[in-house]
Amino acid sequence: MSKQTESFYNRFSIFYPLIDLFLRPQKQLLLNKINQLPYGQLLDVGVGNGAHLSQYKTHKITGIDTSLKMLEIARKRKGSNVVLLKMNGEALSFQEESFDYVVLSHVLAVVDNPEKLLEEACRVLKPSGRLYILNHFTPDNWLKWVDRSFESFSALFHFKSVFYTNSLSKTEKLTLLHEVNAGLFSYFKILIYEKKL
Ligand SMILES: C[S@@+](CC[C@H](N)C(=O)[O-])C[C@H]1O[C@@H](n2cnc3c(N)ncnc32)[C@H](O)[C@@H]1O
Repeated sequence: MSKQTESFYNRFSIFYPLIDLFLRPQKQLLLNKINQLPYGQLLDVGVGNGAHLSQYKTHKITGIDTSLKMLEIARKRKGSNVVLLKMNGEALSFQEESFDYVVLSHVLAVVDNPEKLLEEACRVLKPSGRLYILNHFTPDNWLKWVDRSFESFSALFHFKSVFYTNSLSKTEKLTLLHEVNAGLFSYFKILIYEKKL
């Protein structure tokens, strides 16, 4: 985990609702899918300011984040089905096979080491548990030029604008069940994985 990312999100927490306006429609789609799943223990890594917490209707939620400021805002929004903790997603302090579902919503392209985050998500998932990834992925269309031109600028905002689906190479313990286009010319995707038995 990078201390710079942590302090960036502490400072940025007040402006995050503006960014969230663009992310909301895809998150709604993700949450609709998650709410249809049978009851389970769900880990939301990089839960952020918790704007979406009230939309979790079915599960017991554990939300973690490295930014105390984001967690402070999320705490005001949480219901009794939610526990929030300050924790690094790249080094989770949960035991193996603790969760039925893990959600990584717009966090993979933010962390220093996305492969480590995936490895940790997979470790804490129960066998046959599901991993839900919502992220932008650089598509093979004109948007790749936009991502490329924003590459250095995006680093200032602590995320990687250029981010390919094949950045997720460490997924041999996971089976990809569905890849859902979540809007903006295939720029946003929901990837649904199942942990192998
Ligand atoms: C772009 S925001 C996404 C917030 C929320 N998941 C959403 O979809 O709106 C990324 C969040 O990940 C958190 N984050 C960054 N690195 C992290 C890490 N290593 N472990 C846990 N959270 C992290 C940031 O503090 C921030 O709240």
